[in-house]
Amino acid sequence: MSQNRSTEDDVLSFDPSKNQQELLKAWHIFMESGIINNEIVPPHIAESWQRSKKYKVDPYDFSPDSYIESEKYKQRIEKSKGLIDLARPIMENVYKSLEQTKYLVVLYDSDGYHLLRIGQRADFERSSMFKIREGLCFDEKHVGTSGFSLVKRLLKPVQITGCEHYSKLLHYVTGAYAPIFEPKTKSFIGVTGVTGSRTIPNPHTLAIVIAVETAIENLLELNQSKEELFVFATSLQIAIQSFEDGVIILDNDMRICEMNPVAKRILGAERKDIYGKYTSDLKHLSWLEKTLKGLFQFQDHEIEEIDCQINNKRYLATIKSLRKNQQDIKGVLVQLKDVRRLTRMLQNIVGDRPRYTIESMAGSSRAMIEIKNIATVTAKSDACVIIEGESGTGKDVIAQAIHNASSRAKNPFVVINCAAIPHELLESTLFGHEKGAFTGASSTHIGKFELADRGTVFLDEIGEMSPAMQAKMLRAIEERKIERVGGGKPLPVDVRVLAATNRDLYHLVSTNQFRADLFYRLNIFRIILPPLRERKEDIFELVQTFLVEFASFYEKPAPRVSEAYLELLLNYDWPGNVRELKNAVQYSIARINDEDELLPSHLTGFFPSRRYPISVTGLDQGRGKLPDIEMKVILKTLESYQGNKTQTARALGISRATVYRKLKTLPLDNR
Ligand SMILES: Nc1ncnc2c1ncn2[C@@H]1O[C@H](COP(=O)(O)OP(=O)(O)OP(=O)(O)O)[C@@H](O)[C@H]1O
Ligand SMILES: [Mg+2]
Repeated sequence: MSQNRSTEDDVLSFDPSKNQQELLKAWHIFMESGIINNEIVPPHIAESWQRSKKYKVDPYDFSPDSYIESEKYKQRIEKSKGLIDLARPIMENVYKSLEQTKYLVVLYDSDGYHLLRIGQRADFERSSMFKIREGLCFDEKHVGTSGFSLVKRLLKPVQITGCEHYSKLLHYVTGAYAPIFEPKTKSFIGVTGVTGSRTIPNPHTLAIVIAVETAIENLLELNQSKEELFVFATSLQIAIQSFEDGVIILDNDMRICEMNPVAKRILGAERKDIYGKYTSDLKHLSWLEKTLKGLFQFQDHEIEEIDCQINNKRYLATIKSLRKNQQDIKGVLVQLKDVRRLTRMLQNIVGDRPRYTIESMAGSSRAMIEIKNIATVTAKSDACVIIEGESGTGKDVIAQAIHNASSRAKNPFVVINCAAIPHELLESTLFGHEKGAFTGASSTHIGKFELADRGTVFLDEIGEMSPAMQAKMLRAIEERKIERVGGGKPLPVDVRVLAATNRDLYHLVSTNQFRADLFYRLNIFRIILPPLRERKEDIFELVQTFLVEFASFYEKPAPRVSEAYLELLLNYDWPGNVRELKNAVQYSIARINDEDELLPSHLTGFFPSRRYPISVTGLDQGRGKLPDIEMKVILKTLESYQGNKTQTARALGISRATVYRKLKTLPLDNR
């Protein structure tokens, strides 16, 4: 038997020489006794018969539950409408090419219900005589062995003839069937078949069915790609529309075919003025011409970045070719990035965050009050400021406070430490460089001045700047323009310059170490921060500020400040100024355990032993016993609070009574 069957393994084909009489006899024997004649019945049919019997399928009739109600059937049809619409023309074409009176072309859904039957009326009438009508389910559990059930089981094309069917009602049918798979997921979605009377088997029907199935699958795939393309194109369009950069798309003819609203705004033009135009026709885009020619003529692969100006605003244009097969350019995408927005964004990511304000600066000594007043005045102007002071006196702090009080507060605050950057790199750090400006300049670099556009540049340790750089700096400040290293044209920048030094800049000028013209350019305002030892009245307030900060950092309750602790701080000369004081407070808070008060013991080990105990040079250079020093501190504080004893007491962290008590010890005319 098996040698008569097709040699093609996955196609169970029809054998026209098969004797239907013998098959019918084998069928009867099986139905009565369950015995299979393996000589006659092919194995896949035998297995299916056995399963059908196990399912108790009636071989002489279809049970009523083999049909679904017409409403449910309609719903099924509706659900598979896509597949039906797609398969119908293919099936109709195939039907036309067949001997029409003898065949039906059918389509089943994945559960075995007819979705489509194409044929002649007589064929339908005949099949309905055999109870084959809409709503009949062709799976194995309902009708037993059938073309559909075999295909669903074996998931490959199948031919079945007459008495191979389990149900007697199907014995007149011969057919070829093939599975339809969803192209992407490869899941089984239905079966297509060509059926006819068992008296007219045709060995070609299987090939025809396979062709139908392939055509349906191809069409499904095409439709799917079309849909995917639609989804992709639409989402791309939405994405481009919502871009914050301008996007212009050119076709392979270098005409504009698409652009987003931002691009329209940048160009200040309407759709009708732009679409279909060549870039050379548009004055704002004429600079693109050279690059585009390079791309199209020389198949340039590089992504170009061009610094351009449109309507007096600066943009960075990125130009990318849209290629097919790495070769043919099908179009070009131009992205216009607003340099100001870009720098602001960069600044947010890498920039320094100035946190101090004039109000948040601790210190109410007369010197500090004066400094805060000057800071408030300078903040209102846009002029340069020189901030001088020993290390740790708060030069950074005051620079931040000025920036934050100025109209530039929302814009970048960029710090450049002139001493920390090697001389040869300072210029490119400050002003940027063009690609290829020097060895290692592999890409364009935006300098700190550009990053700080509309904000403040804080040049720390300006005294360390080389004379050559001083000259360039003077030009940048005077002309409000910078030149990138290796880039010809000057770029306008809007920055305010604050400079700081812990050296005596005036002395540097007089000894020719600092350019006098730059000094005078910077020295519009000059703020000199006195060392802490000269304003010890600020110590208590500073301690209070740091104490809160570090208590929260160490997650401890903020302690009080004991008199003895404060006294210790007041008796030190603070060579490291406020920074050192801050460190002292941090040191103490870290050491505090359950105590609710800062005590001298919390400072044990903090001061370098050489320096402590110290002289109180800041207090009129006076040396003396502790009570004298203490008195001087009280008097100085009192002076800075215009004699207000409550404020003095609060500032020193002692009670009002103590202030009075101490003052009482003075001769009357000194109180
Ligand atoms: N008035 C102030 N209020 C609060 N904190 C201050 C004050 N002054 C200085 N500080 C703190 O002291 C430390 C040193 O201040 P800053 O960095 O501004 O000093 P600097 O003068 O710039 O020092 P350097 O010359 O070393 O750069 C910082 O941690 C700062 O927070
Ligand atoms: Mg500093």
